[in-house]
Amino acid sequence: MKKILFVCLGNICRSPLAHGVAEDIISKENLDFEVDSAGTSHWHNGEAPCENSIKVAQSHGIDISRQTSRQIQKEDIATYDYVFAMDRQNKEDMENFGFKNVYLLGDFAHLNGVNVPDPYFFTGQSVTFGFEKVYTMIATCVEDIIRKLSKE
Ligand code: 4NP
Repeated sequence: MKKILFVCLGNICRSPLAHGVAEDIISKENLDFEVDSAGTSHWHNGEAPCENSIKVAQSHGIDISRQTSRQIQKEDIATYDYVFAMDRQNKEDMENFGFKNVYLLGDFAHLNGVNVPDPYFFTGQSVTFGFEKVYTMIATCVEDIIRKLSKE
């Protein structure tokens, strides 16, 4: 069984999407993975994902509404085989915390190492477009990651 952890800052916008997409693939394909997500901050501990992430996931047939935000903890270092960070700041924070095997999500699916933009601060007209774009980036990379890890 491979254990993977997706990480962003608040664990309410980006990493819950990665978590939900990965669980969807794993259950549909009956794969031997365990998945979770967490935040580098404690700011939203215990909260459900943000409304826009719940909505965009729902529009792709994925229910993330029952996830709850939690901060990374020292025990996670021994638990997870692979950690995927949404942006470079998250990756650096994870490494400073003591995690090994931290990868940038945007290094997969030919995204050429882009950061997944932080959608928490998207406003106005750009919200729907922004979350859809973030969803697509995340889903494409998660599919690539699961496919690659399944072959190992
Ligand atoms: P996330 O988005 O890291 O994708 O969950 C954020 C959520 C909350 C904050 C920043 C980013 N915040 O500053 O509270």
